Amino acid sequence: MKTHHVAVIGGDGTGPEVVREAIKVLDAVAPKFGFKIEDTPFDFGGDRYLRTGEVLPESAVADLRKFPAILLGAIGHPDVKPGILEKGILLRLRFEMEQYINLRPVKLYDERFCPLKDKAPEHVDFTVIRENNEGLYTGSGGFVFKGTPHEIAVQESINTRRGVERCLRYAFEVARKRREGRPWKGLTPDEVKAGKKAQLTLCGKTNVLTYAFDLWERVFHEIGERDYPDVKRDYAHVDATTMWFVKNPEWFDVIVTDNMFGDIITDLGAMIQGGMGIAAGGNINPTGTSMFEPIGGSAPKYTGKNAINPLAAICAGAMLLDHLGEAKAAAAIETAVIKTVREKLKSLAAGKMGYGTREVGDLVASMV
Ligand code: IPM
Ligand code: MN
Repeated sequence: MKTHHVAVIGGDGTGPEVVREAIKVLDAVAPKFGFKIEDTPFDFGGDRYLRTGEVLPESAVADLRKFPAILLGAIGHPDVKPGILEKGILLRLRFEMEQYINLRPVKLYDERFCPLKDKAPEHVDFTVIRENNEGLYTGSGGFVFKGTPHEIAVQESINTRRGVERCLRYAFEVARKRREGRPWKGLTPDEVKAGKKAQLTLCGKTNVLTYAFDLWERVFHEIGERDYPDVKRDYAHVDATTMWFVKNPEWFDVIVTDNMFGDIITDLGAMIQGGMGIAAGGNINPTGTSMFEPIGGSAPKYTGKNAINPLAAICAGAMLLDHLGEAKAAAAIETAVIKTVREKLKSLAAGKMGYGTREVGDLVASMV
């Protein structure tokens, strides 16, 4: 039987609990589609750091590189100063493994859980492609005269032609793929027949960040015009993007943006799809090791209470399968998640679902 080897980092807080449910669902779906999941746990996270003083062991990246995919729970520990684990584990893995795409689908499964008035699943269904290796996240910059009245703090946004272009190309490809067999949702059938296109929106700030987004915008139009004429190009400033997310989320199909803006708008995206309990993402290296995670964080106050929503981790598991070429199994998980959300859950929030963490995992596993 075909076996997929997956590295599993439960991480901090509720991370291990939600990852357990995701694996339960992966193990339930696998035999139905003729494959097996072999998981290898790694104990990276705050507890290990507090115990050993080491954020990541020397061999970590080399060990993880042997796997096509990693399932990650959460990183962030209340007893560890903010930044140490995030930079030392999460960002380090994203950077060293060149996971240059952060893929975040924003999809509402049940209108009861949308905070927006009069918005239903057909209105909230888009994908954000966040650049994941550059921008303000590289750590470029520093202090001068630290601790004095003359102190200077510089934090630079790095945007390379190569980094911007590969991100934009990936986004164009996603836009194209979403369009296949599935007309862009904003269009009527007649419009589709008339040749209307998939749509990619560049989210930037060309009116102020006139170097960084000048580069983004030039490359966007250059490669778009030459290589992706079937994808309609659109542009929105980041501030306006947040406004449209709330007012007209149905206008979006695929959005591409830099690392920092992508971080910010996808939290808002998570809220309009029903909250952190359901939002998943993938850190993608298209030719290497990719890492999938619920985007909600470690939620320490719910640790060990069987209260946290595992659906985001389960959806991350579905994205992982899709990435490994098991599209049908991934779709089966999504269908089971939708059924669970619509037919069973009272809320998507921790402690309010009407079921515990394990029970939600059982429900999905029984429906795949
Ligand atoms: C995310 C998180 C991380 C980020 C943090 C934990 C470093 O907020 O995955 O969105 O800023 O990318
Ligand atoms: Mn974030």
